[in-house]
Amino acid sequence: MMWTSHPVNKITGTLRAPGDKSCSHRALILGGLAKGTSEISGLLEGEDVLNTGRVMAALGAEVDRVGEGAWRVTGVGSSGLKTPNIDLDFGNSGTGSRLMLGVVAGYPIKARFVGDASLSGRPMGRVLDPLQEMGITYEASAGKTLPLTLSGRSDLRAIQYQPPHASAQVKSCILLAGLNADGETVVRESRITRDHSERMLRGFGAEVSTVRDGAANVVSIRGGQKLTAQETLVPGDPSSAAFLAAAAMISERGGVVVEGMMSNETRDGFYRAASLMGAHVGAEDVGDAAGERLIDMSFESADLHGAEIPVDLVPSMIDEFPILAVLAAHAAGVTVVKGAEELRVKESDRISAVVNMLRVNGVQVEETEDGFVVEGCDGAIPGGGLVESHHDHRIAMSALVMGTASQKPVSIDDASMIATSYPDFMHHMQVLGADLRSGQA
Ligand code: S3P
Repeated sequence: MMWTSHPVNKITGTLRAPGDKSCSHRALILGGLAKGTSEISGLLEGEDVLNTGRVMAALGAEVDRVGEGAWRVTGVGSSGLKTPNIDLDFGNSGTGSRLMLGVVAGYPIKARFVGDASLSGRPMGRVLDPLQEMGITYEASAGKTLPLTLSGRSDLRAIQYQPPHASAQVKSCILLAGLNADGETVVRESRITRDHSERMLRGFGAEVSTVRDGAANVVSIRGGQKLTAQETLVPGDPSSAAFLAAAAMISERGGVVVEGMMSNETRDGFYRAASLMGAHVGAEDVGDAAGERLIDMSFESADLHGAEIPVDLVPSMIDEFPILAVLAAHAAGVTVVKGAEELRVKESDRISAVVNMLRVNGVQVEETEDGFVVEGCDGAIPGGGLVESHHDHRIAMSALVMGTASQKPVSIDDASMIATSYPDFMHHMQVLGADLRSGQA
């Protein structure tokens, strides 16, 4: 499924941001555990999220689509999860699989977790090790990867844990296990990561305490608390909106408004980094949803310059480095990314995938262990390359955005993975004026 993005001189328009992927997973999971029926609207109907819905149904929740982005979930409540009679298939999703390992851990059931080739290569030891400390047993593939079978238990032990990596998936997995453990589970993260689990657990009626200690963040949850069904409006996804924002910023004539986006300091690093590079980002408060502030954001063409991206922004823009690399390639001067070694274990090795994406399009870039250094083309990215997406949706979308403002078209080898997180991406980009066509240039 090759696609090509041909250069255009204008990217303009107003769009509603697609539902946030992280909040969509959590809405289905918490709704599926709660007592009663939750009504969810604005759900992202991407493959990753749909897989989480199927998994909750296999574990006993009733999960029904009642309209576009509208879902009704009747949770298992106090009767608990049932042993699934199928494998739990998470497709491409690290979030779905890692959060659900924590959920299954707290019930006396056995379940087999499987996923696609990319997910089956990703490390699960980061969640299996703390879960084992809490009392679960498991049999995993070599290197603690999927496929794996986990046996949970009803008498999990609460733990105090300091994850070695900045990871919201690890934090969330342990908190979800902690919800069913004996005692108080505490996660101390040395740098705060996205906090949607904490906010949404509170929304579903659990008490979760959060104490900031400088850059560190300490989250505690008492076991045995019950969740109650909620009405949830999923806020717009700042990670998906970043592609539209970047397309406007690098366009000769760019002017894009994205409505209904989540404003959360644990997710807005890309917008802060883009501002450091000279972008003008406007924001207007428009209400709230799922415990988050909502904003309409506006973006326009900018004279971008390179920058050293502050390391403390890394966790709040961890999914945005491929698209930041496109801004860096377009900018004048050098951009340096450091402290982002977690990119090596995403849907692909995103450091090497980003470096290849830029190189095949004539951009000078140096790969480092924990990041990359880009020599910007000052508005004149050569383009003309065929980018290997490595089954990574964010690489595929970044390359297509790059093609909108390159001198020659940019092609990708495979667009199919875009459906995991942003099924309307092609359509949205075309609405804004991008010239995207199937096939190679
Ligand atoms: C996510 C956490 C991040 C992020 C992923 C979504 C989440 O992963 O990359 O896309 O919803 O908790 P890590 O926890 O591995 O950093």
